[in-house]
Order: sequence, then C-alpha cells, then structure tokens
Amino acid sequence: MKALSFTLVVMMVLAFSLSQQQLVAEPQSNTAIQYQVQPIGWVRKSNGTTTLEINKEYQDALLGVDELKSIWVLWWFDRNDNPQQRSILQVHPFGDPVNPLKGVFATRAPVRPNLIALTRCNILSVKGNIVEIDHIDAFADTPILDIKRYVSGY
Ligand SMILES: C[S@@+](CC[C@H](N)C(=O)[O-])C[C@H]1O[C@@H](n2cnc3c(N)ncnc32)[C@H](O)[C@@H]1O
Repeated sequence: MKALSFTLVVMMVLAFSLSQQQLVAEPQSNTAIQYQVQPIGWVRKSNGTTTLEINKEYQDALLGVDELKSIWVLWWFDRNDNPQQRSILQVHPFGDPVNPLKGVFATRAPVRPNLIALTRCNILSVKGNIVEIDHIDAFADTPILDIKRYVSGY
C-alpha cells in the first residue's frame, strides 16, 4: 500500500513538473513576437525639393501613384532607434514640460515602442522610382516603410 502511494505521489510530481515545463515553453507575452520590415525607399531633400526615392526593386508598386493627389507615407523614426527611446511611454507633448504628461499613444511623439510615423503628402510628380512630394516632416535620408493611397474616411 505504501509503495502504491509513493508511486502515485511520484507520478503526480512528474505530471506537475511536465505541465510547468509546457507553461515555460509558451511565450510569456506577446512582446516575444517580432515582425520584420525593411525600407522600401528613402526620403531625400535637396535644393528645396523633397522626394521619395523608392528602391528599384519596388518601382513596379508605384503603378498608378501618379494618378493620386495624396498618399500616406509610413516611415521610421530611425534616429530614435535605441532601447532607451523605445522604452519611453509618456511624454510632455511638444517637449514642453508645461504640457501635462500623455501616453505616447495619445500623441504623435517620435519616441514610442514601435517607431512608426505617418505623414499625408501631396504628390507633385512621379518619374521612374522618384516621387516628388510637397512636404514631409521626416528628416532627409529617413527610411520609408510603406506608401498608401489617401482616402478620406479611412
Ligand atoms: C512629431 S513627429 C510626427 C511625425 C509624423 N507626422 C507622425 O505623426 O507620425 C515629427 C518630428 O519627428 C522628428 N523626426 C523627423 N524625422 C525623424 C527621424 N528619421 N528619426 C527621428 N525623429 C525624426 C522631427 O523632429 C519632426 O519634427
């Protein structure tokens, strides 16, 4: 009888430790998941002209862009791509300490966990892989992640 109880206890301990190992193997949080993006082009600024220089391998994706008036340009706050600035969750809007703290998701701050920025730009011309726009609030040589047609309402 004692041997049977001992065996049962050992089996229960084993089962418990196995279930614990499975729990440990599960991702502890969604932050373990990573997604990959790469620049599709670069913001260029020279002599008062602003262009989006799209990498040649993505030029075909520009078909029809010349018919659009406005686009969303998604870009990366690459100058802030370091663990310290990516861990900032609250800011004083416009960097002014007089403004009460806000969560970065309530702002357009250039520091945030994922350094995604977006700007609505007006198209002036499309020539080959070069899209000339009126203006963008990204620094010269900022990486571009994506371009989307602007549609009012969504
Ligand atoms: C307030 S953010 C808004 C950006 C975008 N319109 C948005 O809403 O996501 C614009 C500021 O980001 C900064 N900035 C521009 N290019 C950047 C880059 N490549 N890396 C980090 N900061 C940048 C500049 O100070 C610029 O004035």
